Amino acid sequence: MTYVVTESCINCKHADCVEVCPAEAFHEGANFLVIHPEKCIDCEMCVSACPVDAIFFEANVPLEQKEFVALNAHYATLWPVILHKKPAMPDAEYWHGRSDRRQLLDPVPASA
Ligand code: F3S
Repeated sequence: MTYVVTESCINCKHADCVEVCPAEAFHEGANFLVIHPEKCIDCEMCVSACPVDAIFFEANVPLEQKEFVALNAHYATLWPVILHKKPAMPDAEYWHGRSDRRQLLDPVPASA
């Protein structure tokens, strides 16, 4: 099992989760973070660190967001590791609480 980043992270990317992860399991895309399922040690530290409650235990991912289990596994193999917190995205406040963001997930890796 693993923890999974879901829709609420898209266009927010607060990155507080990164600072508490002891496993260097987060990978960064242009507007979203994912957790590498083979690095995650199920410590749960990231769940309470995320200010928008975007992270769920794999078995508890809401039904309508199950797709994110595969998306995390997929992009974790393509995007670079992120080890330190960065500022949230400029429109993070605007996007807070908005749904239907799946189509906005940018497949491009974060730039260095
Ligand atoms: Fe995303 Fe929450 Fe981390 S918004 S970057 S999962 S702190």
